[in-house]
Amino acid sequence: MKPKILLTGKNGQLGDDLQQILPRLGEVIATDRAQCDLSRPADIRNLIREVHPDLIVNAAAYTAVDQAEGDEALARAINSEAPAVMAEEAKKIGAALVHYSTDYVFDGAKNSPYAEHDLPNPISVYGRTKLAGEQAVRDSGAYHLIFRTEWVYSTRGKNFLLTILRLATQREELRIVRDQVGAPTWSREIAGATVKALLQICDRKDETAAWSERSGTYHMTAAGEATWYEFTQAILQEAAQSSNSAAWFQAATNGKDLLTRRVVPITTAEYPAPARRPAYSVLLNSKLDRVFGIQLPDWREQLHKAFLVNRPDTL
Ligand SMILES: NC(=O)c1ccc[n+]([C@@H]2O[C@H](COP(=O)([O-])OP(=O)(O)OC[C@H]3O[C@@H](n4cnc5c(N)ncnc54)[C@H](OP(=O)(O)O)[C@@H]3O)[C@@H](O)[C@H]2O)c1
Repeated sequence: MKPKILLTGKNGQLGDDLQQILPRLGEVIATDRAQCDLSRPADIRNLIREVHPDLIVNAAAYTAVDQAEGDEALARAINSEAPAVMAEEAKKIGAALVHYSTDYVFDGAKNSPYAEHDLPNPISVYGRTKLAGEQAVRDSGAYHLIFRTEWVYSTRGKNFLLTILRLATQREELRIVRDQVGAPTWSREIAGATVKALLQICDRKDETAAWSERSGTYHMTAAGEATWYEFTQAILQEAAQSSNSAAWFQAATNGKDLLTRRVVPITTAEYPAPARRPAYSVLLNSKLDRVFGIQLPDWREQLHKAFLVNRPDTL
């Protein structure tokens, strides 16, 4: 039987992509902040009791990393307490929970990719609140999949890709950090991989056994690694090569030409920000491959595909 799926954060980068693709799996009830404010535990409980889903997919989060430094109570309510309530309610009604987390649970002191069993040690409020959310889900006893991802971008919303394209219409020179290493990951790839994983569980006759075998925490990022500087160069190369006719590209650049001629590498110290970020936070995706046979493409390939979205000649 097709599962009834409750999706939160439907207007976010990932939430929007999930909203498009989750109907392949089952009936989707997609919600936003107006329908359920995740800082209000009673609203979460009421929604789950009313909808009585088989599966909850939580794509909502407090994602403003710098703002979180001065807004810990709200970040904690949304990133730690809301997933705890979801997991508790899920457990009560026998539903499963899909939840997303971040590379920022690690301190970035390692210089090889982090595995799921590596010890987290967050260095920001955002990272700490996300880790507490993960732990609550793991401790709840509910069937769950926690997917840790990183450097997420989309052709909509607020993200590094769109910021660079906007700045490139305003400045001849961009100064970009070259001492942070990660894996830029397109939200659409995360949504696709989530559905692939869920199909492998929900399509099984012994679905409960499949949940108990596969419940756990998984890294889910693009393959490869990049610095913000390399990512910027790749964005500008794609922008120069593409015909730039996509509606999202026109919106990002406001229809203006790109002016940037030089990208100058700088250090994190030269770009002070309220929240500390891990210097190295590449995640090892081999568990996702071993358990589900899922591999996300290299970050450059993902970026190239994102540039083809909504191009009239590729529709
Ligand atoms: N973005 C990244 O680089 C990144 C990196 C690693 C992991 N992640 C994780 O990936 C997941 C998806 O992130 P994303 O990039 O898609 O985030 P996003 O674009 O910032 O979207 C977050 C969504 O959460 C909603 N939300 C925030 N506060 C809420 C509240 N009080 N009640 C209800 N909804 C609320 C927002 O609603 P509004 O639209 O109303 O604000 C928004 O739709 C999150 O778990 C995030 O922690 C993201």
